[in-house]
Amino acid sequence: MKFCGIKITHDGAVAVIEDGRLVMSSESEKVANRPRYSRIDELGDVEVLLDEFGYALDDMDVVAFDGWHEPYKIRRWRGIDVEVRLGPYVEGIRSKTLINPVQERTLDLEYLTFPHYAGHVAAAYCTSPFAVASEPALVVSWDGLMYPYLYDCRGDLTKLRTVGALFPLVGNAYSVLAGSFPPFDQRTSGFENLGLAGKIMAYAALGTPHPTAMAALDSALKDCHAACCRESPFGTDDAFRLESGVAQLEALAPTIHLDGVSPVDMIASISRYLGDQLVEGLDRALQTIPDAPRNLCLTGGTALNINWNSQIRESGLFENVWVPPFPNDSGVALGVACCAMAVAEGRSQVEWDVYSGQRLGTSAVDPAWKPSPCSLPELARLMDETGEPVVFLTGRAELGPRALGHRSILAPATHRSMHDRLNEMKGREAFRPVAPVCLENAAPEIFDPGTPDPYMLFRHHVRDSWRDRLPAICHVDGTARLQTVNEAQCPELVELLTAYREISGMPVLCNTSANFKNCGFFPDVASAMTWGKAPYIWSDGTIYERPEASS
Ligand SMILES: [Fe+2]
Repeated sequence: MKFCGIKITHDGAVAVIEDGRLVMSSESEKVANRPRYSRIDELGDVEVLLDEFGYALDDMDVVAFDGWHEPYKIRRWRGIDVEVRLGPYVEGIRSKTLINPVQERTLDLEYLTFPHYAGHVAAAYCTSPFAVASEPALVVSWDGLMYPYLYDCRGDLTKLRTVGALFPLVGNAYSVLAGSFPPFDQRTSGFENLGLAGKIMAYAALGTPHPTAMAALDSALKDCHAACCRESPFGTDDAFRLESGVAQLEALAPTIHLDGVSPVDMIASISRYLGDQLVEGLDRALQTIPDAPRNLCLTGGTALNINWNSQIRESGLFENVWVPPFPNDSGVALGVACCAMAVAEGRSQVEWDVYSGQRLGTSAVDPAWKPSPCSLPELARLMDETGEPVVFLTGRAELGPRALGHRSILAPATHRSMHDRLNEMKGREAFRPVAPVCLENAAPEIFDPGTPDPYMLFRHHVRDSWRDRLPAICHVDGTARLQTVNEAQCPELVELLTAYREISGMPVLCNTSANFKNCGFFPDVASAMTWGKAPYIWSDGTIYERPEASS
């Protein structure tokens, strides 16, 4: 059977599962250099994205839409405005049966719609190694506008049990509280805030958690929560929910500015405090669940926080911790397709590959860029000899927000200046780290723990003896957001890194996303040329040299 999952709100995407295998998941922001987090405003876009892989909506056995905290959205489709009724948000999250479809109809399209967290939970569990092994797992989903809810999946997604909220804070607590301190206190609202948490995460490494600040934060949040509970018609469970929760936090933020604690230490304290809350909340929950699984999936936008993910992994509460490369809303289309599959076929696992996004486009390239044949070993030599960054484009786009070597800028990591240069090229703040990509079998020598982490979702410490050798990828706190690669996952990167190691002794390169500022990944070589900030573009055996670079 064919299942199509659709998310039309921010991080819009379309995913298709056919006979238990993910065949495509195309994100709106990765079309034509659209802005990050783009919605699907025209349902015609769904048809265009499906058509790239030879599908049409009519081919689907089941179409499933993501639920949202507004009951419907008006979208343009086939020349007219249509009302797309969407599944529940909060009500579904609190439900004992999260994977519970609602049947709807728009024009001649019949579809199911699932609660928003159902998509998150399904995307995390169904893609996990636990699902493959039919093992049980707990799943935490924590989004910007909701609490961290814990679910218990014993192998059958349709029998998922809602355990409850770990603690009463919406995920936006991080950006609202930490964002009230410089340098983040002048921000604007809207989609920009979706990227704020990542910047705060990077900046927090510059500070030190302060016990006084963490105690003050704990006291202020508990007082605030108690006040909310008194006023809330929903009781403790939903007192701090959605926009009202964010408003409460915004009112609270000025009260946590403490004399004697610097803004950067406050930001570090807030980061550590929330990570501690996750670990403590999970520890408490584990005491209440009989025969609790020791596998954990993390999802929701907060699962992009590598420090919290690592804090949980290092806590020892679980034997295995899984975070999919699309824990934010970019994975929800895939998630609701999984929900539909589970309901219709009783299947709770999906075969998938992270490189299941759009194909590389074939727009006409700028003839001023000189093309030459270039094998991956030849590219490795060029990078070593010139020390220059290269836009590296190949195959289908990676899913989710991290560039994992198909829509990347790769560069030597042996000089600190490359870190500054990449941030400058990308128009990013100087404090932002640059991630390393490393051969999986070499990672333990360079990183601690250096265990396989193919999606840049955990923190690794750069071992002392390597910090001066790879300064471009070493964050100020001595950590790195590591991507490991092996032959099965990404043979192109393995061939390149293997050749680069033979030449330079380094099995590591810088890896950052290839995109216009605040836009999705480049969809084609022509876009990288228009951007023009890297002197070389490599794509599938051809290197293009920027005009002035060859003169
Ligand atoms: Fe979400």
